[in-house]
Amino acid sequence: MMFIMNEPITVSVTGAAGQIGYALLFRIASGAMFGTDQPVNLRLIEIEPGMKALAGVVMELDDCAFPCLNEVVATSDLAEGFKGANWALLVGSVPRGPGMERNDLLGINGKIFTGQGQAIAANAASDVRTLVVGNPCNTNCLIAMNAAKGVPNNQFFAMTRLDENRAKSQLAKKAGVHQNDVTNLCIWGNHSATQYPDYTNAKIKGAPVTDAISDAEWLQGEFIKNVQQRGAAIIQARGTSSAASAANGVVDTVRSLTTPTPEGDWTSVAVCSTGEYGIEAGLIASMPIRTDGKTWEVVEGVEVDVFSRAKIDASVAELQGEKEAVADLLV
Ligand code: NAD
Ligand code: LMR
Repeated sequence: MMFIMNEPITVSVTGAAGQIGYALLFRIASGAMFGTDQPVNLRLIEIEPGMKALAGVVMELDDCAFPCLNEVVATSDLAEGFKGANWALLVGSVPRGPGMERNDLLGINGKIFTGQGQAIAANAASDVRTLVVGNPCNTNCLIAMNAAKGVPNNQFFAMTRLDENRAKSQLAKKAGVHQNDVTNLCIWGNHSATQYPDYTNAKIKGAPVTDAISDAEWLQGEFIKNVQQRGAAIIQARGTSSAASAANGVVDTVRSLTTPTPEGDWTSVAVCSTGEYGIEAGLIASMPIRTDGKTWEVVEGVEVDVFSRAKIDASVAELQGEKEAVADLLV
């Protein structure tokens, strides 16, 4: 009997020896991201000081004998790391500590993404899709996209899926339902303290959230603040930033972009605006997205009421400020 194997998908991961890397690689290699019948090549990228720890991670990947893991390369060379990549997961960067906002990291992390964007353009597969996780992820994505000359803007994404998952979980707990019952939850704007988790369009068991949660004060206040501040709360509690849930957000994002979106639903990811919903073109802003598993589109016609408009505008203004702050990196 002839056994037909799919061609391997090549996934490059930066910061592979870090906290998120450690939670992410084993899920990719086990088939959680692309399915257990899809072979995967992992190209793991670290800076020199991380290479020893990365060698240990590679030993552990070997020791799992994953059926769908085809090949593992560990390197600090960007050209080698992004060679043939179909997906580039840009995690490597410094996380914030207690008392910091994510955009306090721009000066430290921003410049990482010029070299990586250039290396992606020069070495990755033509269909490469890049997901930026390293913070501040929207503006780092903008920097990478600008540096990756020749790679279409619609192949760049920044992660707000962790925020979507957090928001669904908060709503489900408050309503006393399972998180699977919460749909149509869009995160708008920046992955930051200004992000807007849009409860006005979200649904619980197919009905408006307000049917199940009548406490408007909670929805407009505590709910939004909890989602905006969840990353900081985890840093306060753990001493380090979210890792397993962030890695899960990466798996969910890639799965959502490579499998058809359920009818009537959408998912959140930050993409390069072309002016949708009055969001300045060229900014990397989170919006409601649908896909057939191959191409994606921003969902049209989502209602933006006065409350939502003000929240979205505030987050977009922050993105505009971040863009101005990194103007020297957008060459
Ligand atoms: P970590 O410090 O545990 O690991 C980061 C790794 O990146 C380290 O191993 C480091 O050596 C490596 N690194 C640093 N600069 C690099 C470079 N130029 N090239 C390749 N590797 C490099 O941090 P972490 O907890 O894994 O978090 C990584 C990033 O993800 C942080 O910026 C964090 O704020 C961000 N994050 C984003 C989200 C999100 O939802 N978007 C969620 C959680 C964390
Ligand atoms: C998160 O949302 O958990 C991450 O962006 C880490 C952080 O700095 O909050």
